[in-house]
Amino acid sequence: TRLLIIDTDPGVDDAMAILMAANSPEVQLLGITTVYGNVPTALATQNALRLLEMSGLRERVTVAQGAARSLKAGTDIERIADFVHGADGFGDIGLPPPQGQHLMDCSAAEFLVRSVNHHPGRVTILALAPLTNIAQALMLDPQLADKWDELVVLGGAFFTGGNVNPAAEANIFGDPDAADLVLGSTSRLRILGLDVTQKCRLSGEQLEAMQDKGKYGTFISRISQFYLNFHREWYGMDAIMLHDPTAMAAVLQPELFEWRAGAVRVACEGVTKGQTVMDASVKGFHGHHGWADRPRVRVALGVQHEAVVRLIHDR
Ligand code: BDR
Ligand code: CA
Repeated sequence: TRLLIIDTDPGVDDAMAILMAANSPEVQLLGITTVYGNVPTALATQNALRLLEMSGLRERVTVAQGAARSLKAGTDIERIADFVHGADGFGDIGLPPPQGQHLMDCSAAEFLVRSVNHHPGRVTILALAPLTNIAQALMLDPQLADKWDELVVLGGAFFTGGNVNPAAEANIFGDPDAADLVLGSTSRLRILGLDVTQKCRLSGEQLEAMQDKGKYGTFISRISQFYLNFHREWYGMDAIMLHDPTAMAAVLQPELFEWRAGAVRVACEGVTKGQTVMDASVKGFHGHHGWADRPRVRVALGVQHEAVVRLIHDR
């Protein structure tokens, strides 16, 4: 079995990805590292604990709290997406707080460094939120990427528009400097963004039907109502986008996606702040300013969305 660490800002779709991991025999969930994004970091940690308590994994899975601000915070306050996921991140349905509060006595970045070094070549990291913790881990151990199995990033919008502004996707926008650093550090990295995740959806009707499908079905269906209302108002569609669980599907079954190799850069300021730009050319713009020595990562540009949604639904 592969060992998995999920870096996350739960979040309705993060919850789906984490519960999927808990229900997937192909992976063993080692830890959850938390960061700001959908909610502030402290609340992300509470939500991670809630999910682990609910799935009975609390004793086996470590939770390490991560960064509360982006690498270059000071210019911006992080955008917290309470209007997407609710103020509590789980659709404001009045969930009780988690019972246990015990956390790892080290930061998310330290936990990542420790775990990857402890199990060289065996750990997959799934990043579902701004990349601050991963960037900090790489600063602590610049060789870290050679020792992880792979890093799978949910983020970016390559040949489609963004979701926080016309150019940028939320996770990359949350810390563009961290994203540019991480995407420039290794080719042991796959990234999937809105190009594929916006095609993977569950309808309001499907969510409704999940309500009496066991404790996970009920939970997902209840916390998703707020998220569904956001999609109805913002996109005018009666369905939710399954961003983070689609990334979990890519960990489990990468063959359901079409991957293209190329270098990626992130715009760190200006009107396109947070935009991900891919060099998809055959020869590569290696000689060009800003593109020299950038590793070729794999970017998802296509998806068998029906099969992915089925996998998410089943798990
Ligand atoms: C990403 O942003 C967050 O709101 C979601 O949890 C997902 O990780 C989608 O842009
Ligand atoms: Ca997320």
